Amino acid sequence: MTLVSRPAVPHAAPPSIDLPRFDRTRRMRASAARRSLVRETRLSPAQFVMPLFVIPGRGRREPIASMPGQSRLSPDLVVELAGELALLGVGGLMLFGIPGEKDPDGEAAADPQGPVPEALRLLREAGLPLTLAADVCLCEYTTHGHCGIVVGDRIDNDLTLPRLAEAAVAYARAGADVVAPSAMMDGQVAAIRHGLDAAGETNTAILAYAAKHASALYGPFRDAADSTPSFGDRRSHQMDPANGREALREMALDAAEGADMLMVKPAITSLDVLARARERFDLPLAAYQVSGELAMVEAAAAHGWIDRRRTALELLTAIARAGADVILTYLARDAATWLAEEAKR
Ligand code: PBG
Ligand code: ZN
Repeated sequence: MTLVSRPAVPHAAPPSIDLPRFDRTRRMRASAARRSLVRETRLSPAQFVMPLFVIPGRGRREPIASMPGQSRLSPDLVVELAGELALLGVGGLMLFGIPGEKDPDGEAAADPQGPVPEALRLLREAGLPLTLAADVCLCEYTTHGHCGIVVGDRIDNDLTLPRLAEAAVAYARAGADVVAPSAMMDGQVAAIRHGLDAAGETNTAILAYAAKHASALYGPFRDAADSTPSFGDRRSHQMDPANGREALREMALDAAEGADMLMVKPAITSLDVLARARERFDLPLAAYQVSGELAMVEAAAAHGWIDRRRTALELLTAIARAGADVILTYLARDAATWLAEEAKR
């Protein structure tokens, strides 16, 4: 395919001026085949993890308004969707629970009959080739929407740790391969590792939400999980988005506490952190393309302002290029479908 139509009349011979020597980087962009040959970053469905919101019951699907295309699902429908994702070669799932009843201390987070353990047991039975991960935090389970146990007007860090460990053990027993603490409590990785080992769950891995910024981009998720704090905000535990060195320090601490994988979040605002972390750590790195990142793509695409498919794949590629091995993305199903289409060409 030629990109420039040839003029009917041949050009006059180029003027014979002496050009300085220069590199022709365009050579290797001259055809799709050449571009493909030298592509530095290739996405694979195997690196995608699909976040899912689990609600109690059977046959329940509740679309999430601020996250077009995403729904809260009961455990049976989670298994159905998981089957589809597995066929597409998607790597795993990250489960978030929305309990029937919330309570002030987030006890429901560790309930073995809760929606997440229920879904995990069904998924285990289904025997799908997916890595099953469960988010560990209290904010989806507390009436006040905070990530920990609140005493007075503050989150009590050390009182929260045993509850997080208890929840992690409940998910591990139900069949989670990976637990992912997102509460940003100090010492949470150590507390969970200790809890898992004491319960004999030595094979359950920890994906630490190590560098999680206090971001405006979590808004749609909080609609989905009904977890907006009823007072205050999350800035006493989530990081100041202005801080990159501190993000690396958080990651080093979680690695020292026994994390098996380190995550940054949101993805698109943390590419510098990812790139620096790639140099510094040998652990697998993950990035979470969060709900607000999805919402921006969906809203602009719905207006016809951007090309949804090209934008989504470009964003995911940039996240991988910056250094992410694993990408948590609500676009996992669509992106896996597109990649399969491209592979067939
Ligand atoms: C729970 C948690 C949140 C997200 C992941 N785990 C919400 C929050 O911190 O408010 C955000 C994910 C997203 O926005 O997609 N602590
Ligand atoms: Zn939380």
